[in-house]
Amino acid sequence: MRNVYLDYSATTPVKDEVLQEMIPYFTEKFGNPSSLYDKGLESRDAVSHAREQVAALIGAQPKEIFFTAGGTEADNWVVFGAADKLKAKGNHIITTKVEHHAMLHSCQFLEKQGFEVTYLDINEEGRVTPEMLEAAIRDNTILISIMMVNNEIGTVMAIQELAAVARAHGILFHTDAVQALGNVPINVKELGVDLMSMSAHKIYGPKGTGALYIRRGVHISNYLHGGAQEAKKRAGTENLTGIVGFGKAAEIAKRDFDKHVEHCRTLRNHLVERVLAEIPNTFVNGTMEHRHPGNASITFEYIEGEAILLFLNHAGISVSTGSACSSNSLEPSHVLTALGVPVEKIHGTVRFTIGDFTTMEDVDYVVDTLKNVVSRLREISSVNTQKGW
Ligand SMILES: Cc1ncc(COP(=O)(O)O)c(C=O)c1O
Repeated sequence: MRNVYLDYSATTPVKDEVLQEMIPYFTEKFGNPSSLYDKGLESRDAVSHAREQVAALIGAQPKEIFFTAGGTEADNWVVFGAADKLKAKGNHIITTKVEHHAMLHSCQFLEKQGFEVTYLDINEEGRVTPEMLEAAIRDNTILISIMMVNNEIGTVMAIQELAAVARAHGILFHTDAVQALGNVPINVKELGVDLMSMSAHKIYGPKGTGALYIRRGVHISNYLHGGAQEAKKRAGTENLTGIVGFGKAAEIAKRDFDKHVEHCRTLRNHLVERVLAEIPNTFVNGTMEHRHPGNASITFEYIEGEAILLFLNHAGISVSTGSACSSNSLEPSHVLTALGVPVEKIHGTVRFTIGDFTTMEDVDYVVDTLKNVVSRLREISSVNTQKGW
């Protein structure tokens, strides 16, 4: 049976070039980067090199990159670090209804401690406009956090304009760029962001490694306390192999950016065009214009996305119904709800995400399989009968 993985927004395989770079740091180059002898210095140099590689991908200075255990830790650090540092100034945070749970649940935790959080709506394109942000700003706003690319519907936010609004008010601006990294052009200086979260496993690097960009001159409290690693800002012995892998993955993402984007966009557009033309009663969620090159969030009316997922799985195809973290929950997706998709249609939504190892034959196999699966499911669907479809 053919195996087709179309869930690159959930995670990506580690590229061979990345793995080869990592391997020596598991075995002969295992020194602790804090140790003062040569074996330690060798590891410290490797961490510094990775910092340069990640910084180069986003137009930052290496000193502005702080390695973490992934995107979730970076998001938590921003929320709790900014809240603690700036609590004397104010207790209001602005974010959006469509953030990843790493951001939403951190904000909800702060609310229990007396902070106030505004969760911005999105427009029909799936985006927040500068006007929507401007209207939510208060005198006591201390942090604005708006994701660069949504993990479910792939919409790209106008971060440069949104960050400009924050700057005009002197408010810290953070963006969760976990899904954006390597998929949309990012230059932190041009964007004008103060803080930015990243993760290695979405760009063909290892899981459990990420980074927070902290613009020079920006200060937030530490989140992890302990040793003096990461310029005394993030304690804990460095995840040496993970960091080396992240660095190499970032280097490749920069080197192959145009090729990667073109490849994903071509295959994604082919998938969308075929599905919309050949399977009736289907629609794409969110704008096609400002969108992650590999993302296709498609609703199949009158059937359940979970049933599609299971049938596709049976045919060797991996897709997701929502973000990976919430796809085992029966709650309707908070992102599609915010987009205004009716609840029964939310349940018929599947997220396909294409990556570097996807081929045109894979996409055609998925669409051909989908045509059968969808028509069989619609034949037996109770929703279908009720609607007289
Ligand atoms: C937008 C976004 N933010 C944060 C995360 C969490 O990153 P990590 O898996 O590295 O903790 C994810 C992962 O899916 C994500 O898509």
